[in-house]
Amino acid sequence: MSLAFSRVLRSSKRPSAKWTFSLRTMSSGSTLSDINPSKLVVKRNENPKSLPPSSQLKFGHTFSDHMLTIPWTQESGWGTPQIQPYGPLSLEPSCTVLHYAQTIFEGMKAYKDPEGKIRMFRPDMNMKRMNTSAHRIALPQFDGTALFELIKELVRLDKNWIPTEPGHSLYVRPTLIGTQKAIGVGPPNEALLFVILSPAGPYYPEGFKPIALYGTTEFVRAAPGGTGAFKLGVNYAPGILPQKFAAKQGYAQNLWLHGPEHYLTEVGTMNLFIAFHKEGGGIELATPPLDGMILPGVTRDSVLTLAREHAAGVRPIPGLPKDLTVSERPVTMAEVKEASLTGKLAELFGAGTAAVISPVDRIGYQGEDVHIPTGKDGMGPVSRHIWTELIGRQTGAIPSDWSVVI
Ligand SMILES: Cc1ncc(COP(=O)(O)O)c(C=O)c1O
Repeated sequence: MSLAFSRVLRSSKRPSAKWTFSLRTMSSGSTLSDINPSKLVVKRNENPKSLPPSSQLKFGHTFSDHMLTIPWTQESGWGTPQIQPYGPLSLEPSCTVLHYAQTIFEGMKAYKDPEGKIRMFRPDMNMKRMNTSAHRIALPQFDGTALFELIKELVRLDKNWIPTEPGHSLYVRPTLIGTQKAIGVGPPNEALLFVILSPAGPYYPEGFKPIALYGTTEFVRAAPGGTGAFKLGVNYAPGILPQKFAAKQGYAQNLWLHGPEHYLTEVGTMNLFIAFHKEGGGIELATPPLDGMILPGVTRDSVLTLAREHAAGVRPIPGLPKDLTVSERPVTMAEVKEASLTGKLAELFGAGTAAVISPVDRIGYQGEDVHIPTGKDGMGPVSRHIWTELIGRQTGAIPSDWSVVI
């Protein structure tokens, strides 16, 4: 990864002025309009539906009454934001997203707390990541704070679509596509940003169920210099065949490995954590470093921050081992296999917005299963307590700056 790219990834703000300038002044050098929430036009849905009962919610299959759209053109920049009834988009068949996968997206959740306040979790991180993704495939960048203002309007309007049962949320899916009406690979002269909302039930409705992974040596998800560190649509379709391949062999997800050393990278569409018992007591919680192949997950960052604050004694998490080392470092399958055989493996879990924490109990690797310990509740000594803290902060039960009331 180039220095400039890693700087964009590490920055807590939107990409630097230099990057922003190059993309916002693509046509004539004049400054283009940014997203402007004060221009919002709202066209209410005259035929609103009602939220289906929780038992009928299948992730990503039900959508709320409204969506947000914001057009962009090379000549004038971002146009009028509009909240309108959820419905089909009109796209020409020549449109570049349909040919060259010029599409990026984000995934975030809105919760209703026990007092009925609507909360979103670390939305600034999603806005920042969406801009780095846009930059990577030459889609237009935008003011993330302005987009979030508009997302808030949309979520408030459709607040009745936020299920209130424990573990439920409203999934928020911002998407940006290239809509240039001409075939040809290049930065599009038109784009469309839209946001849709989907009520979601808990990932594990009947309690945690550890999953089995297939340590994939046949396919790769990401490579050095590629696009694995960005949330691009193009990263996901090629994972479907490997997913079917893993499922056919009885595994729920792929464990994406890299290089001849078989470095662990990600799990399905989640980041990955491995906990090892240290020599002489205590636990090391390790996750692969952000080397350009790993998506910088919001959940990954949250797990790392919570674990580090606990380890430093800044904010101890009840139940979490006191002697905790937190590492961002490469881990090979050989190390995991050895740790499994010698009893040093404490646990392995995936982390992402959808499932939050996903415990793993075995990895199919080179014809045999590597076994991973899990507790009676399906979780392990780190994930159990981190999960409780994370869920508490997301839902507002534990006060935190990360939870934004909207
Ligand atoms: C490839 C990939 N890795 C990791 C994640 C987890 O990221 P986050 O915690 O921001 O949801 C996602 C999920 O969105 C993903 O698609």
